[in-house]
Amino acid sequence: MSSHDVISLERDTPELARTYEQAGILQFHHGKFLIGPLAVKSGDRVLDIGAGTGRLAEFVAGLVGPDGRVTGIDPLENRIAIARLRESNTLAFGVGRAEDLQRFAPAEFDVVYLNSVFHWIADKPRALREIHRVLKPGGRLGLNVQDPSKPHESRSLLRQAIELAGFAERSGESNRVLGATDEELGALFIGAGFVDYRSDLRTLVDLHGDVSTALGWSEASAFGNFLGAFSAAEREAIDRAFAVLVEANRTPEGLRLERYLRFAFARKPASQTIPSVS
Ligand SMILES: C[S@@+](CC[C@H](N)C(=O)[O-])C[C@H]1O[C@@H](n2cnc3c(N)ncnc32)[C@H](O)[C@@H]1O
Repeated sequence: MSSHDVISLERDTPELARTYEQAGILQFHHGKFLIGPLAVKSGDRVLDIGAGTGRLAEFVAGLVGPDGRVTGIDPLENRIAIARLRESNTLAFGVGRAEDLQRFAPAEFDVVYLNSVFHWIADKPRALREIHRVLKPGGRLGLNVQDPSKPHESRSLLRQAIELAGFAERSGESNRVLGATDEELGALFIGAGFVDYRSDLRTLVDLHGDVSTALGWSEASAFGNFLGAFSAAEREAIDRAFAVLVEANRTPEGLRLERYLRFAFARKPASQTIPSVS
């Protein structure tokens, strides 16, 4: 089954977008591991795909300085409405998807990055071909993505909670692990014409103050796609089961939940080769 069949962009709400903006500091810190190796410098033109509420793009705008420019796009209007509050002379946002970058000219960007976005993209080969087109020769691409062989700890606990709450037959619907393995990613990058592909799987630690913050973060970062199919009463039962299970992760600093993201980097060859479009 492709991610197309399971992911809906219609489940997002202004409230989930606000929750994401509040809790998105976790994603922001992890995003900085992506930006460092991309060596973003003063004057660069940068595209942030799946920019969400724009916190990381705002940070990158500080790196490119007054002569650079950062553009962020995201398909969720609620998220872009918050991101727009961050706009400046060098930072702009718009509604859009990775699979359709028509609004951008060929070779417009020095750097393109996607922070915790690639697993959500339905047509990954098309998105990568589009990214290749809008990058300058020698331009850099960085992204991080879930690896289906290593689900986030919160996701594994949520699956157990759904089962404990008596909805075992529905746990697959809401907990299918999206993403790409190293092999799949390498093939996708090379297929789109990129060179110098490298990746590594990293463990990232999130500390949550309480159970409702942990659950709110999980649902906001999935724009309503993990528990959106359950009724309010069913959600309450799942939340209660989750609260019991997650106690095992309590530390003096808070609830400690590990996430696993594969960080991947590549570049467009300096002498341009355009892959054939099927
Ligand atoms: C977990 S959030 C990450 C947001 C942001 N990159 C950050 O660092 O906070 C995932 C984002 O991917 C976006 N997304 C989902 N499908 C997408 C697609 N096809 N193209 C671009 N972005 C997409 C969602 O709208 C959502 O804002």
